[in-house]
Amino acid sequence: MMADAFTGLKRTYYCGELRPEHAGQVVMVMGWVQRRRDHGGLIFIDLRDRSGLLQIVFSPEVGAAAFHLAEGVRGEYVLAASGEVRRRPEGTENPDLKTGDVEIYVRELKVLNQAKTPPFYIEDGVDVDETLRLRYRYLDLRRPEMQKNLIMRHKTAKAMRDFLDQHGFLEIETPMLTRSTPEGARDYLVPSRVHPGEFFALPQSPQLFKQILMVSGLDRYFQIVRCFRDEDLRADRQPEFTQLDIEMSFTGMDEILSLMETMVAYIFKEVLNREIPVPFRRLPYSEAMARYGTDKPDLRFGLELVDVADVVKEAEFKVFAAVVKRGGQVKGINAKGCADFTRKEIDDLTKFAAVYGAKGLAYIQMTPEGPKSPINKFFTPAQLQALLDRMQAESGDLILFVADDPVVVAAALGNLRLELARRLNLIAPDRLEFTWVYDFPLLEYDPAERRYVAMHHPFTAPQDADLPFLASDPGRVRAKAYDLVLNGVEIGGGSLRIYQRDVQEKMFALLGFSQEEAVEKFGFLLEAFEYGTPPHGGIAFGLDRLVMLLTGRETIRDVIAFPKTQSAADLMVAAPAPVAARQLAELHVRVAMPGKKTGQS
Ligand code: AMO
Ligand code: AMP
Repeated sequence: MMADAFTGLKRTYYCGELRPEHAGQVVMVMGWVQRRRDHGGLIFIDLRDRSGLLQIVFSPEVGAAAFHLAEGVRGEYVLAASGEVRRRPEGTENPDLKTGDVEIYVRELKVLNQAKTPPFYIEDGVDVDETLRLRYRYLDLRRPEMQKNLIMRHKTAKAMRDFLDQHGFLEIETPMLTRSTPEGARDYLVPSRVHPGEFFALPQSPQLFKQILMVSGLDRYFQIVRCFRDEDLRADRQPEFTQLDIEMSFTGMDEILSLMETMVAYIFKEVLNREIPVPFRRLPYSEAMARYGTDKPDLRFGLELVDVADVVKEAEFKVFAAVVKRGGQVKGINAKGCADFTRKEIDDLTKFAAVYGAKGLAYIQMTPEGPKSPINKFFTPAQLQALLDRMQAESGDLILFVADDPVVVAAALGNLRLELARRLNLIAPDRLEFTWVYDFPLLEYDPAERRYVAMHHPFTAPQDADLPFLASDPGRVRAKAYDLVLNGVEIGGGSLRIYQRDVQEKMFALLGFSQEEAVEKFGFLLEAFEYGTPPHGGIAFGLDRLVMLLTGRETIRDVIAFPKTQSAADLMVAAPAPVAARQLAELHVRVAMPGKKTGQS
């Protein structure tokens, strides 16, 4: 056997690679001790590495020194073991292991390192507090399921690179130390030592650089790139996350969407060996909101929202009639087969809807004796029948209604729809439902700021047909924007861009920037637009979210090697952390602690 010049040891196989055809070979494996079992004259150790588990066996007859060393070995010790591969005796095979038909009879053992008892079992599916997992992330990442997630992430990124390379895209890096890029979140700032009082911003996305690359004629760009957004965190949001960022010149929406869905199908084929049918369905934003109450609908199940305003507006029920009168909405969901929900279950749903602002949750139970409801009495038999017809109510169903402003109806019923699907187990775990959502509004009114804000970002082009409304009715203008949604998760979003200076200036003005502000912040872009800018557009995918869905995880933290907690901290390295006064002084930064009047320097 070849030996390394420095260590004297050379691994010849990964643990998980050995099979009956290797029987008779003398091999060397290295890895961590998963488990040790002493059976009198024999010691069995399950040795683990990235590829899987392998049973190694110690017997005094085969290797006396190794046997005695093995007696002192404990969990997570790091071993190098060499010996002969043997088929396991009949009846002792382990069908749960890829290597379950073989074992190694160890002739020589070297303990490469010892280990303290880990704070949790290094095993899949163990119920360990996530704080502990993140504090000891190096141990958490030893677990096979976590390694599988990172391997799938690697494969996903590789499939993206391969596909885009084959389609003429160039991977180009853009700066991390830059200026604020408006994507709607707060910036992470980095003080400049050389320019006192000035700050870099970490990019929320490479949006402006990729557009500038189109001005430069690079034609097709991509980058797998870290983005930074200081926003409220959730299961699918991290303060730093990774995008697959893409931009193309001389193109239109159809070309972008069809190329991108081909890429997504390619990724699923490469990573999961699954065939994804293309083209994906396309849903206008208004239809998504009307039928699902959200712009990222989960299409794995029905439970659609149904508008009943016209049916209930004449009824005696004041709540509904009043809402319709003031221009609000009344919508219902038919929870099939839920007529026997108890009072408490319905109360729970009402509380759930209240979280999203619903002031009540009216219901009709379709019992075998007929419709039962606290609001029946407010409807004439004909009105009630019309309502039930509209809801396609059948015996056994539970019909739920919310009446309110459109935003509340969408949020309450949209989320109730998801909650009901979970409770009723309507979601087949293996199903993949892709949809493009398009025809987004260009602008959104922000009541707090009392102005319009860009729904996507300020560089998204308005639709040509809606240009006349830009001045008169900005809320009505649709954007040349699109999102890709998979199983209710927004995995990507993009748009065709504004590429004319005057249109971009109009957009900035609509968003409330003064001309000076616009020039101060984005002058370089406005200027670049004057030197021959091709029409262009693009998209960015959330790599973390895509890998989360590919691996079937519930949170993107499970597919990021070193994620941050909900409170944006890294528990392993303990970041963020205070810095020395000298460092702050060098950076010309003074800290004003909350609650304290003066800062340190
Ligand atoms: P957008 O802001 O929609 O578009 O981001 C693109 C995709 O990135 C993912 N994403 C996130 N993932 C994890 N944590 C976050 N905090 C987070 N924020 C966003 C989502 C989202 O769909 N520059 C534009 C793209 C373009 O117009 O080409 C942009 O960044 O999956
Ligand atoms: P009330 O008249 O307040 O007793 O309400 C009668 C029923 O209508 C109860 O089931 C309430 O939950 C429901 N309800 C009240 N307000 C609304 C609303 N805005 N939308 C839907 N249901 C409502």
